[in-house]
Amino acid sequence: MSEQSLRGKVAVVGGGAKNLGGLLSARLGEAGAKVVVHYHGDSSAPDAEKTVEAVRGAGSEAVAVQGDLTRVAEVRTLFDTAVDTFGGVDVAVNTTGMVLRKPILETSEEEYDRMFAINAKAAYFFIQEAGRRLNDHGKIISLGTSLLAAFTDGYSTYAGGKAPLEHFTRAAAKEFADRGISVNTVAPGPMDTPFFYPQETPERVRFHQSQALGNQLTRIEDIVPVIMFLATQGWWFTGQTLFPNGGYTTR
Ligand SMILES: NC(=O)c1ccc[n+]([C@@H]2O[C@H](COP(=O)([O-])OP(=O)(O)OC[C@H]3O[C@@H](n4cnc5c(N)ncnc54)[C@H](OP(=O)(O)O)[C@@H]3O)[C@@H](O)[C@H]2O)c1
Repeated sequence: MSEQSLRGKVAVVGGGAKNLGGLLSARLGEAGAKVVVHYHGDSSAPDAEKTVEAVRGAGSEAVAVQGDLTRVAEVRTLFDTAVDTFGGVDVAVNTTGMVLRKPILETSEEEYDRMFAINAKAAYFFIQEAGRRLNDHGKIISLGTSLLAAFTDGYSTYAGGKAPLEHFTRAAAKEFADRGISVNTVAPGPMDTPFFYPQETPERVRFHQSQALGNQLTRIEDIVPVIMFLATQGWWFTGQTLFPNGGYTTR
């Protein structure tokens, strides 16, 4: 059986400053992990600082690192920081992503490239670098979307950009298996964060709510325990896509 405690372990959280990643960083800290809190935009710097303080307040250690993870060199710097600061990495969670709801006929080349750069390319090189740097029995978790199990309009570059994650995850699970590393994708339902609303109308928000248990959106508090489980007792999951979404979609 794989080691299950996070005490003294080191976690890298891509997009770890706010929303889902922010709560996850704080929970990892409460569980005794040292956390490398990645953030992207300058406007996320105060969130990163708050999250670092939350981890320290829980009695653990944390450091914030800024980076554009569509640049492979910056993915490497993120993991370098973890190794240089804390001596290694055990858990790598990539919560970064970008959403766009737009018909195919209106989508520009620039929008397509931007969406695939963060949702697919950054995710790929995050997994690659995690595979290089993780200690034996490490865990790699990427964030997908429950749209991977849906048949809908408008989200071609978002769901399409996240779709490769499933195959990156499967290949990495096989390729890193000899070191006991588990690799999974967590694909939440529409989540109640500022990421979701700008793409949707109030009517569509109500429809999304109506498709899940209790007529509600997915909450970050429902997803963080799933990630924590995969990072600990859930180590036997590998190569999988999990759909925590209150029954919103399945396959
Ligand atoms: N909210 C939903 O409805 C929903 C549903 C299912 C799955 N998800 C997925 O869950 C994950 C977390 O989403 P969330 O709702 O918690 O929203 P969020 O905090 O906005 O997460 C997206 C993160 O990606 C970062 N990011 C964007 N471009 C980047 C780049 N070039 N390099 C590095 N980081 C970059 C953002 O940083 P900046 O803001 O600083 O640019 C942000 O921290 C995402 O992968 C999302 O696709 C969300």
